[in-house]
Amino acid sequence: MAIPVVLDVDTGVDDACALLLAALHPALDLRAVTCVGGNAAVDPVVANTLTVLDAAGRADVPVARGAERPLLEAPVDARHVHGHDGMGDLDWARSERAPDPRHAVELLRDVLDEAAAHADDAHRVTLIPLAPLTNIALLLRTYPSAAKGIREIVFMGGAAHVGNATASAEFNVFHDPEAAAVVLDACAELDIPVTMYGLDVFYAPRVSLETARTLAAPGGHDAAELAGRLIEFQCQRFGSPDATIGDAGAVCAVLEPAGVRREQLPVRVELAGTWSRGRTIVDRRDWSGDLSHDPHGQAPASIDVCLEVDAQRYATLWLDTVSGGMR
Ligand code: RIB
Ligand code: CA
Repeated sequence: MAIPVVLDVDTGVDDACALLLAALHPALDLRAVTCVGGNAAVDPVVANTLTVLDAAGRADVPVARGAERPLLEAPVDARHVHGHDGMGDLDWARSERAPDPRHAVELLRDVLDEAAAHADDAHRVTLIPLAPLTNIALLLRTYPSAAKGIREIVFMGGAAHVGNATASAEFNVFHDPEAAAVVLDACAELDIPVTMYGLDVFYAPRVSLETARTLAAPGGHDAAELAGRLIEFQCQRFGSPDATIGDAGAVCAVLEPAGVRREQLPVRVELAGTWSRGRTIVDRRDWSGDLSHDPHGQAPASIDVCLEVDAQRYATLWLDTVSGGMR
């Protein structure tokens, strides 16, 4: 049985790469996509998401509009990275499909409640947040019973060692630190397994400009062309001979978990630091010793942190899928 998945996105060039993989790979059952403000405002995110799913021939997948802004932090975007429209400013006609009338949190609740209604675990959903965690925090605090429909959460965000939005913090967590803290707290309370696919692995799976141009060359206005042009945009934006598949790596980690090395570690989110707000504080100390002197104590949330990745394996998985090789 294909793995039921739901993606929460701020599409986003690399969110688009992830959506193509999730929509096309036969081992995944993409049940829904929910949108949140992040790389761009939520309405362009919805338009971009619908467009990507149309290119993948997946107009059957419901898309819902979610939070416009973080819980507390003032909203910022990343259009300096993703282009003015949030998806590379490609000359690509936007979908005419309307989003699902439900709010993202309601769509998530309905999909998860339906999954939980089945007797066997095979229907439980792997939730893959690839954006600020605002929708997920609202879901888990508003409808905690929806957790019964969640198999695990594999999210792109945070980092053990590096930052990108600031010297200290990763963009998705920095954009809404309170939401990230709420999600870790709720998952510990609701016993939801969590994997963090953070910056320590995020940049490693890469595709060359040459490969991207080969992918786009037939010009079928399809997933392959869109995939190639998304990579090409990043290469041109950064003047690089290759570009990361970014968020798509988190979907790869669901498809082929053996492609990452992970450790279960205590993680907290810094909310008060002047220079460290939004940092995921990954505790790599040996807790078998005497740490009773530590006034902070061990973080309540111990999650699987991805520390290494087989980059070529994930880049190949993505390419084989978006090029049609997996269908
Ligand atoms: O820090 C990288 C993350 O921020 C990715 O999800 C990217 O799409 C942006 O949302
Ligand atoms: Ca994203």
